[in-house]
Amino acid sequence: MRSRRHVPRSYGQDSLTSTASGFGQLQSRMEGKVVRFVGLGYASVYLVERPAPDDFLGEAKPELMRATLIPLVPKEKIMKIVIAGGTGLIGRKLVSLLSNRFHEVVVASPSAGVNSITGVGLEKAFEGADVVVDVTNPPTFDPAAVMDFFTTSTKNLLSAGKNAGVTHHVVLSIVGTDSLPQNGYFVAKVAQEKLVQESGIPYSIVRATQFMEFMGTIADGATADGEVRLSTANFQPIAADDLAELLADVAAYFPLNRIVDAAGPDRGRMCDLIGGYLASIGDTRIVKADPEAGYFGCPLDENSLVPLGDRRIGSLNIEKWSQRPKAAA
Ligand SMILES: NC(=O)c1ccc[n+]([C@@H]2O[C@H](COP(=O)([O-])OP(=O)(O)OC[C@H]3O[C@@H](n4cnc5c(N)ncnc54)[C@H](OP(=O)(O)O)[C@@H]3O)[C@@H](O)[C@H]2O)c1
Repeated sequence: MRSRRHVPRSYGQDSLTSTASGFGQLQSRMEGKVVRFVGLGYASVYLVERPAPDDFLGEAKPELMRATLIPLVPKEKIMKIVIAGGTGLIGRKLVSLLSNRFHEVVVASPSAGVNSITGVGLEKAFEGADVVVDVTNPPTFDPAAVMDFFTTSTKNLLSAGKNAGVTHHVVLSIVGTDSLPQNGYFVAKVAQEKLVQESGIPYSIVRATQFMEFMGTIADGATADGEVRLSTANFQPIAADDLAELLADVAAYFPLNRIVDAAGPDRGRMCDLIGGYLASIGDTRIVKADPEAGYFGCPLDENSLVPLGDRRIGSLNIEKWSQRPKAAA
């Protein structure tokens, strides 16, 4: 941990101008310094002792609102955070979000010279690290290869973390991993979660529902003879942007030592949500509701893929997400 500083309680609300975004996150600029509040069922405050870049509030200006400082618990951490899989869909967004919070962020992926399977580059990447966030994904989806990938990669990341004195291991998993024993990918994610839980390193496991960005792949996998047969089971996809914001908050917070679920705001039958999305982008394939369709060949119960208990809900629904400019996706 690089520095810790408490925010003086005498700062009044009136000196703050703040923006709200994502999972209850607030950013403020106060006397040339950046202040950040994050809320995940907890409250914390980050005070960064650098002048705010001129465009810090940038596009968020229309959402300006007042923030209340007094009830929040002051807490500030600037850390070295290793993002395993930092070049992937979620990883890239996470690298950008955490760098913008002034954390020292290290990208650990093969294209950046770090390999969690062979171990190449791990020791150097982890030197002095406080936190690791694992958002790796295997290059192939053969069930045995996926199991081999997640177990080997996770063991290597945990071992590198132990050697470096990492105090928080964050891993991204999937809602319902333990409810689809016929799905090799889900079974491998359960094995990954178990390694993390039993590692002795303080951890946080974030289980997300399917990414909105993954809906096209699900549709393609369910297509035969130009017809998309999709399950009638419940589905509640999350936008990668929302998930990355939540993961950034979790990484910057202290270990939860438990599993938290995250999902998007729309919940409905998979056939209806993906069918609606395909229609909205002009995809002319016929979508059929099929109670037997399952998920990549595995049978689904009504609620196998949706969070049933405590969960974080993203801000983007499918409509808003699909209408965003491509560059933001
Ligand atoms: N898709 C979904 O709907 C969904 C839902 C919930 C959770 N998840 C989980 O989300 C996580 C991230 O998914 P994603 O779609 O963001 O991944 P992705 O875009 O496929 O990116 C995979 C990342 O893993 C890296 N990687 C591959 N092999 C590696 C190795 N040997 N060592 C280190 N890094 C390696 C890749 O690096 P290179 O770029 O260098 O190859 C890349 O950065 C996965 O664990 C997945 O299980 C997915």
